[in-house]
Amino acid sequence: MKIVVLGAGYVGLTTSACLADLGHSVTCCDIDPQRIAALQSARVPIFEPGLSELIAQQMQAERLHFTTDANMAANDADAVFLAVGTPSDRDGDIDLSYVETAAQAIAPYLPSAAVIVLKSTVVAGTARRVKSLVDASRGGGDIAVASNPEFLREGTAIKDFLHADRIVIGADDARSEAVLRMIYAPLALRGIPILATETVNAELIKYAANALLALKIGFINDVADLCERLGGDVTAVADGIGRDHRIGGAFLAAGPGFGGSCFPMDTRAFASSGRRHGAQQPLVETLIERNEARKQALAARIIEAAPRHGRVAILGTSFKANTDDVREAAALTIVPLLVAAGLSVHLHDPQPDAAKRLLSNVQWHGTALGALKDADLAVVLTEWDQYRTLDLPKVARAMAGNTLLDLRNIIDPERAAGAGLNYQGLGRAPLAAAPARRGHGGTAMAQLAASPA
Ligand code: UDX
Repeated sequence: MKIVVLGAGYVGLTTSACLADLGHSVTCCDIDPQRIAALQSARVPIFEPGLSELIAQQMQAERLHFTTDANMAANDADAVFLAVGTPSDRDGDIDLSYVETAAQAIAPYLPSAAVIVLKSTVVAGTARRVKSLVDASRGGGDIAVASNPEFLREGTAIKDFLHADRIVIGADDARSEAVLRMIYAPLALRGIPILATETVNAELIKYAANALLALKIGFINDVADLCERLGGDVTAVADGIGRDHRIGGAFLAAGPGFGGSCFPMDTRAFASSGRRHGAQQPLVETLIERNEARKQALAARIIEAAPRHGRVAILGTSFKANTDDVREAAALTIVPLLVAAGLSVHLHDPQPDAAKRLLSNVQWHGTALGALKDADLAVVLTEWDQYRTLDLPKVARAMAGNTLLDLRNIIDPERAAGAGLNYQGLGRAPLAAAPARRGHGGTAMAQLAASPA
């Protein structure tokens, strides 16, 4: 089929490359001429594992093209996917103007059997609203508007697209459902379930799924706090809970609070939509507050654990591993609070570019060990694989102090203690350092309690 994708951002590029991989002829459009020029030379402006390779491969097969001229591309399109931005304001309401403007702008150029598909995450009711705008701009109701939410995680987006748990098609008419079923037929043949429902349900599925996943994270983070008080281990508790197939083990890793481009924005938009329609979502409202408070509480904990004007090494600034994205990352809340408290903050991240633009009065290092050198306190903030496999005896030798605060629970406590580090995970009882290093201050908890504020 002939498909146009509007928006060459993270979702638009992944969608374009994967739809081309399914055999469709795809033209990806963006209003940014520099971005399109780069893409035309197969230079991909975002970091997503495997995406550059897939884009290059599909361009070579001539199934994927890039242009700024969306109207030209639209004139024989079977479907136009909208993957444009939906920024949110302080109250959590999302700005639908890019979606609406893009749909209205392209509508006059579409052939009459075409379907506009909303890929951007939008509040329930948007597809129907866009349909009425498109009808008005064409002076007729021949263009269908469907919803097809994405469930892509940064870092695994291609796999999430091509091996999805399910594909949700939101269609208010038989024609748009048929077009979308045809587009996804190669994935249906591989056994991926296709769920067809009304547009309003598809839009709600996206928000409710993200809210429920975020609630799992918020819940386990609260359980982690209780584990710490009781001397338990949240990783064991999460394992025990997650093996109940009704619950499932995913999204039960305690951490410094969720971030990224989706969970924070989508939970706010979901809560705001509930308020606006008189169907409050108190669980999600509380979750949003708790998640933000968690980042601040962890900053306070780091400040308390570090000596006055001490040196703190922060490992990881991305909101999660395998991405350079720092949107709503815990580091963006925590690091400025540490700097404001007078600490000398030394940072490392394997993909630091975006963070470098946003964090000031800090020192960056090209290696984790560089950041750890002479540090009084080390904090793991992002679960990059290279931090899991740190040479801990070397870390212990490089640091001035010996407390390691593992806010992702990715380091084996016994290995850390064996290396002479005072290890403290999240929601885990502290483990005493091996005797050789006891002079550095006993257990992490003792060190935390003894540290000056
Ligand atoms: C998420 C959804 O998973 C995806 O379906 C949606 O389309 C976009 O939003 P993403 O933001 O890429 O994807 O990341 P995800 O892996 O879901 O993690 C989100 C945040 O939750 C990260 O900050 C991550 O560190 C945190 N998280 C995740 C935890 O703290 N614990 C977990 O167990 C899982």
